[in-house]
Order: sequence, then structure tokens, then C-alpha cells
Amino acid sequence: MQAPNRLKVLVARKIFDSTLNKLREHFDVEVNSEDVPWSRAELSTRAQGCWGVLTTGSERIDEAFLASVPKLQAVCNMAVGYNNIDVAAARAVGVVCTNTPDVLTQTTADFGFALLMATARRMTEAERYLRSGLWSQWSYDMMMGADVHGSRLGILGMGRIGQAIAKRAAFGFDMRVLYHNRSRLDANTEQSCAAEYVTKAELLAQADHLMIVVPYSASSHHAIGAEELRSMKRSATLINIARGGVVDDAALAQALAAGDIAAAGLDVFEGEPKVHPDLLALDNVVLTPHIASASLKTRLAMADLAADNLIALHTSGQALTPVPEGLQGLEPRA
Ligand code: DGY
Repeated sequence: MQAPNRLKVLVARKIFDSTLNKLREHFDVEVNSEDVPWSRAELSTRAQGCWGVLTTGSERIDEAFLASVPKLQAVCNMAVGYNNIDVAAARAVGVVCTNTPDVLTQTTADFGFALLMATARRMTEAERYLRSGLWSQWSYDMMMGADVHGSRLGILGMGRIGQAIAKRAAFGFDMRVLYHNRSRLDANTEQSCAAEYVTKAELLAQADHLMIVVPYSASSHHAIGAEELRSMKRSATLINIARGGVVDDAALAQALAAGDIAAAGLDVFEGEPKVHPDLLALDNVVLTPHIASASLKTRLAMADLAADNLIALHTSGQALTPVPEGLQGLEPRA
């Protein structure tokens, strides 16, 4: 007897074998095992006839792509952010989109804090100095940075990750935590992370360290530009673990060079994996290649959740973690 036709799923980047095996129990699976991101044309060619795709932030799922793959029903992104997907266009053609919230919250908050510490205490700059053989003696003012403990942390975007960072700051480092968000948190949640709601202008003016955790959307595009940077303390640090498009990287490089703020720690960039050359030339910026969620346990949980979404959609018609309504938008093409 002929085996019933199985649905086809495309996995657009290399992921864990255990996750692929789980998918293979339900689908015919094609995977990008070379792990070089496919061009738009190749992605579309490979996705012909597919019922679902498992994407990462490197695949742009826009109207043109969706129109080219009429059989597609599901786009399951292995990321909490989904600014690579035109969700409205997907909904319009009945394609369900999912993301991977929760499983990466604590790991990403750990990394945000690590980046804050490294930036305020000039750790990578100091390491470069030592490795280059320049260290010849101890000096009272060598590599002096800014304290993290006891200082004032401003958080822009107070979702799950912002709240997890606030708890580390308030209860671990005795920091005063201010936040600004589209909507104010309820009193219990504010109390649970010891955070005070302020206006964006107050946040910028008062923060010793500014942590950006706001999702990318048309309204958060360049939420931090030249004007916002000028309104910050000259001693302040800025940490971006959200999305590149939220900060105007050219304006940030200028502000860092001019001393408008003291330092920045960046895990995300406009047009990544390219990095603005003016940022690369500066010493007072810590740069990491979009790794905030990159612990083994968390990346495995993200891959599994993306796969479980495909399986749940297929077996029950219900996604486990559909993307929420109307939050994020497609980031402009770099
Ligand atoms: C996310 O989950 O959005 C991270 O930035 C990894 O892409």
C-alpha cells in the first residue's frame, strides 16, 4: 500500500539534529544543512510546495515571498522577535506565524546584564589593552569606569526580558530601576520588579545606564537617535539587546565619539551582520554578534518550540505561541 503523502516542511537554517528528528516524525523535512543563509530567490524556490517553514531572524518573510509560495500555511520563527516577518501580510493570506517567547527570557536578561557590566567597567577595552602588550604598571586611574551597583538603571521596553533585568538590577545590584513602556505595568508587577514608571524624557535624562529591550516596530524605529542621545547624561552607558533598528547606529557612533555619552554595549545592529564602520573604530563600545539568547539550553528550547509549533498546528490546528496581534513590524531592508 502506498504511504499517505506527508506534508513538507523547510528548515531555513541548520538547527539541532534532535529537533530535526522530532520534525521528521511528522513531516518530510528539507534543511539548509550548509547553514549559509539562502538568497530570497533560493528560499522561495526551496519553499515551493511546502506547508510550513521554520525560520530564524535571517529569513525575510514579506509579501512577495508569501505570494511566491501559495501552499504555505505556517511560518514558525526560532526567535522571540519577528521583525523579519510581515505578519499582517501573512495573516491576509491565512499563514499562521509563531515565535519563541518565554524560553529565552532569563538567558537574554543574563546577557543584557553581562553586557552592561562589560560596558560600564570597560572589560573588553581593558582586555585589548592587556593583550596588545601595553600594560606596564598599575595606575590609580587606569581603565576607570562607572559603577553598576547602586546606580540608576533606565529600561526602555518593559516586557518579560525588561522585567527579568529589572529584578537582577534591583535585588542583586541595589539599583534604582526606572522604566518606560508603551503601557504602564500594573502595580503588582511594578512592585515585583521594584521599577518606577517615568516618561521617556525622564528616563533618558535620569538613567546612569540605559537598557534597550523594546521590540522593533514602526513606532520604535530610531527611538534612540541624535536628539535622545544628547538628552542623556554624558557619563551614561547605553545597552542595546533589542533590535538594531531601534537605535540610529550612525548617530550613536557620533555621540560616542563626541563624548555625549560615555559608552555603549551592542548585541544588535542596523543591517546586521554588517556593523557601522564608525562603531568598529571606537574603543568605548562593546560589540557582540547577536548572541544574547545563545546558551545551549536556551537555543535548544527555542528550536524545539519552533518545531513544536509546526507540529501542534498540523495535529491540532492550534499554534502554541502565535505572534501577538499588532506589536512588531517588518524592519526595513538594509
Ligand atoms: C530573538 O529571539 O529575537 C533573538 O534576538 C534571537 O534572534
